[in-house]
Amino acid sequence: MTASPIPFDASQPHVARVYDYLLGGKDNFAADRAVGDRMLASLPAVQLGVRAQRDVLGRVARYLVGEVGLRQLLDIGSGLPTADNVHEIAQRIDPATRVVYLDNDPIVLAHAEALLADEESTFAVDGDLRNPAGTLTNPDVRKHLDWERPIGLLMCGILHYVLDDEQPADVVASLYHADNHPV
Ligand SMILES: C[S@@+](CC[C@H](N)C(=O)[O-])C[C@H]1O[C@@H](n2cnc3c(N)ncnc32)[C@H](O)[C@@H]1O
Repeated sequence: MTASPIPFDASQPHVARVYDYLLGGKDNFAADRAVGDRMLASLPAVQLGVRAQRDVLGRVARYLVGEVGLRQLLDIGSGLPTADNVHEIAQRIDPATRVVYLDNDPIVLAHAEALLADEESTFAVDGDLRNPAGTLTNPDVRKHLDWERPIGLLMCGILHYVLDDEQPADVVASLYHADNHPV
């Protein structure tokens, strides 16, 4: 399927900004905070959950680079930059590690581009998880990652946004089984 990019609309809550609010960030609007507050009211432990998720993401990045020895990561649904982002964790272990962030939220991409303006090993790309063929053929994704070498694929806190009729298992399988040669 093809997925249209999300237009920027501050009056509509959006996943990345609600998540940012729950993490204690400042990159969110009233509509996002309203949803976050409703979540907190019905499930106070949600804040603990999002922090734990962020910790898991950091541990996975450390494991893939530090223990498995990967030097390339593709992080789909990267979210708004916060403290200790995936590229910072990975590049503390080896500054040459290449990280591509892919997200479909224009706000996430704007922040990532500002944060990464001087970066030579980290790139933010507009894309949609639900369009794996688009990801695999995206010229920026292909340019910044070496498809002859292993690539660590991160999808943290995103799969539950893919609806059953959008075939999440097929989406993951397409990415997981993609061979390492240009398509
Ligand atoms: C809850 S945040 C998770 C951020 C980060 N991965 C983490 O675990 O801390 C989910 C992110 O997925 C992005 N997202 C949601 N659906 C997406 C899709 N279909 N394609 C690409 N990004 C998507 C949102 O914009 C948001 O930035």
